[in-house]
Amino acid sequence: MCGIVAAAARREVSEILLEGLRRLEYRGYDSAGMALIDNEHNLQLHKQQGKVCELEKAQKLHPHLGCTGIAHTRWATHGEPSGVNAHPHISGQRIALVHNGIIENHAILRKELCAAGYEFSSATDTEVIVHMLHQYLESGRSLLAAMQETVDRLEGAYAVAAVDVVHPDQVVAARKGSPLVVGIGIGENFLASDQLALRQVTDRFIYLEEGDVVEISPSSLQIYDASGAPVERKRSLISEAVEVADLGGFDHYMLKEIHEQPRALAATFAQAADHPVIDDCFGAGAAEVFDKVKGVQIVACGTSFHAGMVARYWLEELAGIPCQVEVASEFRYRKRVTHANTLLVTISQSGETADSLAALRNAGDGEFAASLVISNVANSSLVRDSDLVFLTRAGMEIGVASTKAFTTQLVALLMLTYALGRRASMTEKKQQEIIAALKDLPDYVQQTLELNDEIEQLSESFIPKHHALFLGRGIQYPIAMEGALKLKEISYIHAEAYPAGELKHGPLALVDDDMPVVAVAPSDDLLEKLKSNLEEVRSRGGELFVFADSKAGFSSEARVKVLDMPHCPEVIKPIVYTVALQLLSYHVALQKGTDVDKPRNLAKSVTVE
Ligand code: G6P
Repeated sequence: MCGIVAAAARREVSEILLEGLRRLEYRGYDSAGMALIDNEHNLQLHKQQGKVCELEKAQKLHPHLGCTGIAHTRWATHGEPSGVNAHPHISGQRIALVHNGIIENHAILRKELCAAGYEFSSATDTEVIVHMLHQYLESGRSLLAAMQETVDRLEGAYAVAAVDVVHPDQVVAARKGSPLVVGIGIGENFLASDQLALRQVTDRFIYLEEGDVVEISPSSLQIYDASGAPVERKRSLISEAVEVADLGGFDHYMLKEIHEQPRALAATFAQAADHPVIDDCFGAGAAEVFDKVKGVQIVACGTSFHAGMVARYWLEELAGIPCQVEVASEFRYRKRVTHANTLLVTISQSGETADSLAALRNAGDGEFAASLVISNVANSSLVRDSDLVFLTRAGMEIGVASTKAFTTQLVALLMLTYALGRRASMTEKKQQEIIAALKDLPDYVQQTLELNDEIEQLSESFIPKHHALFLGRGIQYPIAMEGALKLKEISYIHAEAYPAGELKHGPLALVDDDMPVVAVAPSDDLLEKLKSNLEEVRSRGGELFVFADSKAGFSSEARVKVLDMPHCPEVIKPIVYTVALQLLSYHVALQKGTDVDKPRNLAKSVTVE
């Protein structure tokens, strides 16, 4: 998704800006650009469709140098991916501006600005911001006042940063709804949409709050709150080592991350051993909150939503706690009835997903007993805004299709089930079973990874297909959903998941010899029901790919291929079966030749609505 990097220094900053963009690349984008103010106080601009390396080539060919600059990676929302629509946008050869987010009232503002004589060159919502800023500056406002008045007129979400040739050593920026962080240097200051982009130059950061406007120069840094009053914001020292994005001998980050799961799952669960009681893994005050919780509302997007769907089965079946799960983009706009003492749980790998963040922020006063976030990114917006926090220990995830982040979220949710279940109807025996299963989980995942070659063979049948159906029952239904999502995300094969019992109410009409049907079929209470559903597929000529353990009693035969999964404790089956489906998607995508780590049109961190 869009990324911002900006610098005000006494040294040349083009390489710092480019390196910042490189560090944000994994999030997904379609164009990139950079504007610098040179020694003669002129704006120098490079921008184009394509990757940051193209921008680097342009910079090598026609070097632009300057000590003040802004840079951007764009993920198209308004206007196609193109050089013209790429940021920075320029007004009057005076100002350059970059923007993350979406301006909802851009059409009205565009009309006003056109009437005032501004000519638009792009189809973006962003261009209104730069012309409005120009208009306020030309009417005599200071850079700061012009930015304050401009953002006052904006509806929607934004993080913006701008440079002005009349104030050649300053960058002015603002945020509302999209993240922005100040990086504090020595005799230089920086801005970025994520601190990761700036770890090359500093470890001292200020996370800006909603409505903040900031002005930086090499020697100064002043933040103003939404009312325009100067404010001091907390400074954070982030000293832990930055993980270096490195393929470690694998062909793709996704494959590397799939293989990192035994370690990531163990590290996530190991937090339980670091605390006297499991409650403490969820932050200070968790025990008191959990004592009064009578229900759980989970809100998330994408793969994280599927983690929530699995957790609903655990919380209701194992802990006896009522649980609702909803995608954040629906939850945030829906009038709700919330029972007393409900815990709001958001799940977000990045901690920055706009809809999930809005769902948390829109929760009514006193609507929930407390909020808990399960995230992989410390210091993310959701982490900073939630009462309780569980940090998964997946390590940085680069592949857009989430793998280890998902399975570590499931570990966190099983730990939550345990913590709440102990206070509700969960028996001592069940508690011990959960802990034992979580301990053994990395081994079962490792055994599943060793099925790689068999899974690769299965994957060949999917290459010529355009559609696939994934079936599961009970807690395996959300795993079927996750399997289908992985396949469509990275192989571009249309894949849908159905609870197998629903097959006869529609999707059966699609089944023919051209539709592979994947069944998540471990031996469990619903197995016999699932087998009947699979017979319905077979008798219509469908080809079955069954993921099952030996106890389930399937055997490969004509038009039925069975992957022999390890037999593992019931409670962790959703996690173990997920890993096999991840490998299936990976191998299909690999053979189809798609961009596995950066699938078209998708972004790692979706910071717009
Ligand atoms: C994007 C990513 C998905 C992710 C979803 C939610 O769509 O491509 O992999 O599951 O956002 O992200 P979050 O960071 O909130 O888990």
